[in-house]
Amino acid sequence: MKFKNKSIIKLVFLLLIISMLYFIVNKNSNKSLRVLAEKQDILIGTSIASLPFLKDKEYRSVISREFNVVTIENDLKFARVHPQKETYNFLIPDLMVEYGIENNISIRGHTLVWHNQIPDWITQVQYSKDELKSILKSHIQTVVKRYKGKIYAWDVVNEAIDNDGNLRRNIWMNVIGPEYIELAFRWAHEADPNAQLYYNDYGNESINSKSDATYKLMKKLKANGVPIDGVGFQFHTSINTKHNYTEIKNNFSRFNKLGLKTEITELDVKVQNSPLSMERKLEEQAKVYSNLLEVCLKAEKCNTFITWGVTDKYTWIPMYTGNEDYPLLFTDDYKKKPSYDVIYNKLQND
Ligand code: XIL
Repeated sequence: MKFKNKSIIKLVFLLLIISMLYFIVNKNSNKSLRVLAEKQDILIGTSIASLPFLKDKEYRSVISREFNVVTIENDLKFARVHPQKETYNFLIPDLMVEYGIENNISIRGHTLVWHNQIPDWITQVQYSKDELKSILKSHIQTVVKRYKGKIYAWDVVNEAIDNDGNLRRNIWMNVIGPEYIELAFRWAHEADPNAQLYYNDYGNESINSKSDATYKLMKKLKANGVPIDGVGFQFHTSINTKHNYTEIKNNFSRFNKLGLKTEITELDVKVQNSPLSMERKLEEQAKVYSNLLEVCLKAEKCNTFITWGVTDKYTWIPMYTGNEDYPLLFTDDYKKKPSYDVIYNKLQND
């Protein structure tokens, strides 16, 4: 009898240990942004860059663990994907799209029409209006058709509006005229009628002359029946920027009322040029991330929140600004930063 009691106690103890282990393992496997985001139908993502994608295994595994959407950071830009008139270079985007499909990650295409990262064979030749139209149409349709049904959304036109609210005098505007914007959307839609199509820009996050001009342009495009689904707000921002979150919310809301989605597409939060200690900087950074996620979650039509990179190790900011910086959610060695934690908590408690 004594012996029997002992073995029952042992058995109960063993079961207890097993269930505790099961709980711990399960709890850990649920610890990711995408698991929480998926529960509420939210896309949480990062841009994806070719060098770490090819070289750094941890980069790929952190992305597939944490994110359910990625934007191809450079490899679908005109100069990369179509470097010569007769040559397309689909190798890297093909691999990224395959990786996305394997890991159940939605892929955003970036970007079909922009004034930067365009090849010499476009900028160094004086094409007529009709020639440039036909080049742009064929470029857009070749790229979009290749990923039809695989890339669910495109930044069709990027940064077409200047800070003063005028249309930027880029090569497309100068040669084709302002209708290049409308045409680009129509051509993309013809190539993949199911893809969501976005206008994407920076500096239009609050209410100002640029966002007013963007609003007017979107209203006109909608009135002309142009196939456009939403506006991407890049949000390359800094802890030094005084964000007016109510204004950002109101700005999103006016686009939503036009029937357009509003998405956060390229968020990073710089900490350079601040007298604060690193600890305080990271706390301030976390507040910005948290408040912007809050704006998106509360908006009528915002379900996508994308940071411009995974780890501070590969951020574009030092190259762009000439200063070191730590603008993202993970440290150089993939430790979660306070910004990660606030996003996690907000997604969990929302
Ligand atoms: C940046 C990339 O992150 C860099 O690697 C590249 O050298 C330059 O472009 N707005 C955009 C993005 O729409 O395409 C830019 O990406 C950042 C600003």
